[in-house]
Amino acid sequence: MQDRFVNSLNQLPKALAEQLVPLLNDEFAGHLDAQQLSELAKASGLGDDELLLALLPIAAALANPPISEFYVGAIAKGKSGDIYMGANIELPGEALCHSVHAEQSAISHAWLSGESQVVDIIVNESPCGHCRQFMNELVAGQEIRIHLPKQPTAPLSHYLPYAFGPKDLNVTTPLLSKQQVNLALESSDPMVIEALDHASLSYAPYSKSHCAVVLETADGATFCGRYAENAAFNPSMMPMQMALSTLLRHNRSFSEIKRALLLESADGKISLVGASMDALHAVAPVELEHIVVSPEPN
Ligand code: THU
Ligand code: ZN
Repeated sequence: MQDRFVNSLNQLPKALAEQLVPLLNDEFAGHLDAQQLSELAKASGLGDDELLLALLPIAAALANPPISEFYVGAIAKGKSGDIYMGANIELPGEALCHSVHAEQSAISHAWLSGESQVVDIIVNESPCGHCRQFMNELVAGQEIRIHLPKQPTAPLSHYLPYAFGPKDLNVTTPLLSKQQVNLALESSDPMVIEALDHASLSYAPYSKSHCAVVLETADGATFCGRYAENAAFNPSMMPMQMALSTLLRHNRSFSEIKRALLLESADGKISLVGASMDALHAVAPVELEHIVVSPEPN
């Protein structure tokens, strides 16, 4: 079992902790499938919602908040029945706007795993305004059920009344809906190919600046992030932050990063190169490789 979960396990009901230990092996990065969840529910005697609330200390153990030392854990439950954990990240010495909130981390985990809808968000602290806005960008966002330890479950529409969202900017294909842009580039570099795939799946309906980040560690493992924009702009999740969050979920440390790549489409209205360098250099002394790709004619 990974050391980072030792303290969290002590906060779990004993029967749940015992059943969970073998799942928290070296490969565990915050994902449990529907089958594993039903086994955990059976062994622990907890109902579905109770089980997800009980698992929050495990999600919170994924946090990396050197500034606030405030550990937030979130779980996104997908339409498939699988769950995706996430946690907050703060970059040491860097502007607070580079932080990742637990809800964003969990939702991006679900997105990167191919979920087409998030139906529940379980979080150990009340979601802030920025996260409510981020969730409102998702497919059927207003219907997402929010579960908190000490509140009755309520849809996002309760937490974000009179919402502003993608429809106000005439965007009708929200985050998590199937969409892909054509980006093509001849390359034999697997990291470039991976970045190209993720950039083509990125969500940039406002700036059209489709992009992705791939980080490589010394042992050749790669960790990706796609750009996820938001109608209110500021709550957008940048690909470097998403990639850093992916890397930490996999129990890797920033000091292992040896290569970093940002791939952007050429026809967007903005570039994330400066912001990505700032975030990267807060955690790793690695040069950011930058590739700009022309979109393919349809
Ligand atoms: N935080 C979250 O992760 N989610 C919320 O909605 C509330 C705030 C994090 C952000 C920051 O790392 C720390 O908690 C203090 O605000
Ligand atoms: Zn938040």
